[in-house]
Amino acid sequence: MAEPKTNESMEKIVSLCKRRGFIFQSSEIYGGINGFWDYGPLGAELKRNVKELWWNTMTREREDVAGLEATIIMSPAIWKASGHVDTFSDPMCDCRKCKKRFRADQLCEDQGLALTKDANGKFIFPAGTKCTNCESTDLTEPRPFNLMFKTYVGPVESEDNVAYLRPETAQAIFAQFKNVMETARQKVPFGIGQIGKAFRNEVTPRNYTFRSREFEQMELEFFIKPDEAVEAIHGSVVTVPETGHPGEPQPNWGWQAWHQYWVEERVRFYEGIGLARATLGFHRQTAEELAHYARACVDILFKFPFSKRDENGNVKGDELEGVAARSDFDLSQHARFSGKPMGVFDDELRQAWGKLPKEKQDDLWRRYYENRKRYLTKSGVEAEAAGKQATDDANGLAKGQYIPHVIEPSAGVDRLILALITNAYTETVKTDDKGKSETIYTMKFHPRVAPIKVGVLPLLKNKPELVAKAVAVRDLLRPWMNVYYDDGGSIGKRYARQDEAGTPFCVTIDFDTLGEKPELLDTVTLRYRDDGKQERLKISELRDWLLARIR
Ligand code: GLY
Repeated sequence: MAEPKTNESMEKIVSLCKRRGFIFQSSEIYGGINGFWDYGPLGAELKRNVKELWWNTMTREREDVAGLEATIIMSPAIWKASGHVDTFSDPMCDCRKCKKRFRADQLCEDQGLALTKDANGKFIFPAGTKCTNCESTDLTEPRPFNLMFKTYVGPVESEDNVAYLRPETAQAIFAQFKNVMETARQKVPFGIGQIGKAFRNEVTPRNYTFRSREFEQMELEFFIKPDEAVEAIHGSVVTVPETGHPGEPQPNWGWQAWHQYWVEERVRFYEGIGLARATLGFHRQTAEELAHYARACVDILFKFPFSKRDENGNVKGDELEGVAARSDFDLSQHARFSGKPMGVFDDELRQAWGKLPKEKQDDLWRRYYENRKRYLTKSGVEAEAAGKQATDDANGLAKGQYIPHVIEPSAGVDRLILALITNAYTETVKTDDKGKSETIYTMKFHPRVAPIKVGVLPLLKNKPELVAKAVAVRDLLRPWMNVYYDDGGSIGKRYARQDEAGTPFCVTIDFDTLGEKPELLDTVTLRYRDDGKQERLKISELRDWLLARIR
């Protein structure tokens, strides 16, 4: 399924999602609310499977990652330290003629233009930008609009009681870094993963669930030693090619190798749930695009039906996940704003440092000092104070202390669900003997994420022996997987219903199951969703057969 689907199919996908109960508009009976979506029975299962797979892959199956579940509303001081209060905004503008509101950068992009900034950082429209609704060029100046949802904690609606719905799950991980490290008995390098809701008051939510105002994230903050510490301990820092998986983590990896590792680990995850590499795209952020503290960021993209084509007709895709190398910015900010130490003590570094030749010590000391000073000055600390603090930090390094750096693979759950749905969506036209054509819809989900793992179908519902056996098979499988029991309508209709739901396997209990052909007693017909092929399987082997394919 390497070829991206088209925009036209997006409408059909949206319609199937509603018809089959994957996704509904939030508050639909009241006309809906823009940017909010509900997951119906099948969507809820799909989402649950994806989150569980992420959680298992990223935390339970690793020695070096622990989990966290923090609150959505946190101290507003967190968002001051993270920079969100001051800078988490999108440029917004209005058309004075038709009064339509736009995100200014998207308005430009939709016309093949790019919003720019003047020398003072003020946004300016390129010549010729017009309203895409009424063509007027009478647009207001782009102005920043903070994306955080505000609320008040307690009964008094005053500035002192303002709080925010978190715009990302990441910051709680930084704020709880010390607690998690100590209680999970971890040492750097290690990570903290979290799945949870986040909220952004998008100026213009769009592309179905892709850009929603309430959404879920799956974020890992993976803490690593600064390169100077790695070099002090191991003599040098290993870097790896920017393509391909670099293999098992090595102690002499610096940030670049860890970053590449996490990009590839995440691609493996996507491949493991049915998104072939050809459906993905990659965008390595340019120096201009990178946040000032970031060293690199690779966006993992998926080729959605609404993704734009470049001048050569190729679809690049839209972001599923960003894998960022964020230096020691986040923990440093929280250390400065909270006044609490966020550094760690590394005895291996302390011992190694003592054995280094003086020139090497001086070289590493100077590089660490320069990096710390650059961070502090960029963060607005006055030059003299920054120099003094950077000196203290570099002296700390010589004693085995540092603030960990971080690699952040940050994925959007809802975007991934949309990617899985569009990837799975398949139409086939079937023509019968009389020449009558019918479109058949099959959701070809990978069995690991499929909302229903197996449909259990008695051949006939008016034969108590068949029904009793089918109910027994359903109850045998239920503790292990999501099973759907269906006895309504012809067997062909029931298969078609499961194909639309994306159920990879169906088992039919028929007269042979009851022993009509004695050699087939206690066997079922197993039918594959994707090619309709059937085979016979013993009931006693069914559970393990299915588990081997859905895990
Ligand atoms: N923490 C990164 C993001 O929310 O995009």
